[in-house]
Amino acid sequence: MFKSIIAGIGMYVPENIVTNNHLTKYMDTSDEWIQERTGIKERRYAHRTNETTTTMAVEASKIAIERAGITAQDIDFIVFATLSPDYYFPGCGVLLQRAMKMKEIGALDVRNQCSGFVYALSVADQFIKTGMYKNILVVGAEKHSFGLDFSTRGRNVSVIFGDGAGAVVLQPTEDNNRGILSTHLHSDGESAEILAMYNPGTHANHWANKNYASFNDGEIADMFMSHAMIDNAQNFPYMDGPSVFKKAIVKFPEVILEALKKNNYTPENISMLIPHQANLRIAQFVQQKLGLKDEQVYNNIQYYGNTTAASVPIALCEAWEKGKIKQGDLVCLAAFGSGFTWASALLKW
Ligand code: ACO
Repeated sequence: MFKSIIAGIGMYVPENIVTNNHLTKYMDTSDEWIQERTGIKERRYAHRTNETTTTMAVEASKIAIERAGITAQDIDFIVFATLSPDYYFPGCGVLLQRAMKMKEIGALDVRNQCSGFVYALSVADQFIKTGMYKNILVVGAEKHSFGLDFSTRGRNVSVIFGDGAGAVVLQPTEDNNRGILSTHLHSDGESAEILAMYNPGTHANHWANKNYASFNDGEIADMFMSHAMIDNAQNFPYMDGPSVFKKAIVKFPEVILEALKKNNYTPENISMLIPHQANLRIAQFVQQKLGLKDEQVYNNIQYYGNTTAASVPIALCEAWEKGKIKQGDLVCLAAFGSGFTWASALLKW
């Protein structure tokens, strides 16, 4: 059995910096409120027409592929995590395959929101361990700025999110002292609607009391996305922030400790924890709960906001580029998000 190593890593964020003060032009909010509750100072928004989730993923992937010392032609599988795909379907994996002129390899999309990248990494790890693939491109990318409610009505959600992409190339190694040691995946669908975007979807709760047989063609066409849904802002994400906070601060430490225990480590052995950049207050709570020093945790939500599936690879890449992660280091990736789903991965860099 092989182990998987991150052979190359890359990130991309759009040039356009949007400060908290900038957002006050659109909604009733303030720099002070946003920084105090989330730690965020600014975020990046993609170019309206020239940048998509896939084009940002391409930029991050090019860097990861080059750093792995291979070409796009060598990639033999793609796992792409996003909640903001270019199209409702097909997924971004095939768009990335096309844009990078790769061979007719498999492309899998993962829809696990904030924990998407760690889930994607875990899926790729299984393929590498069994010897099925040799160069897997694992991507997390988001263009949130196209799907947020920038009026005061949507301010509890819209101020949090930013755009960007991160990618890694996973390869097999026979070196037992390196690579992914274990991954841990969890879900609890009880609270699925607490952090969700309901539409477009097939739940059709708003039609539940209607007689299906009486629909005319127009009504049937309306079921997926109606004018009324848009008028009532039901096409934007919904979040019960305090409930998410309460669950996150329990599950984050739990899944990190699970990974450490599985490999006979304790929190003090962690060289670098890369938590999903949900909210700086959540990351600080986790750090305190595990008794970690500042230099054991990397946060960059202050500058990019919450980039959901992209946040872990972006933070990992930036920490590595700054020389904060070196060969032999014990690195823990952890994420919690919509679903709820949560996950961790422990690796020797
Ligand atoms: N600017 C100014 N005021 C605001 C804003 C804003 N952007 N957003 C909400 N408010 C107001 C509300 O209207 C409310 O006013 P009221 O008391 O007059 O009714 C007040 O602030 C408090 O609202 P809450 O929603 O209770 O705000 P809370 O103090 O919980 O902070 C936050 C909101 C930051 C989202 C918090 O709940 C939180 O950190 N939740 C964790 C969830 C999270 O971080 N999610 C990130 C995405 S999901 C993920 O990645 C896991």
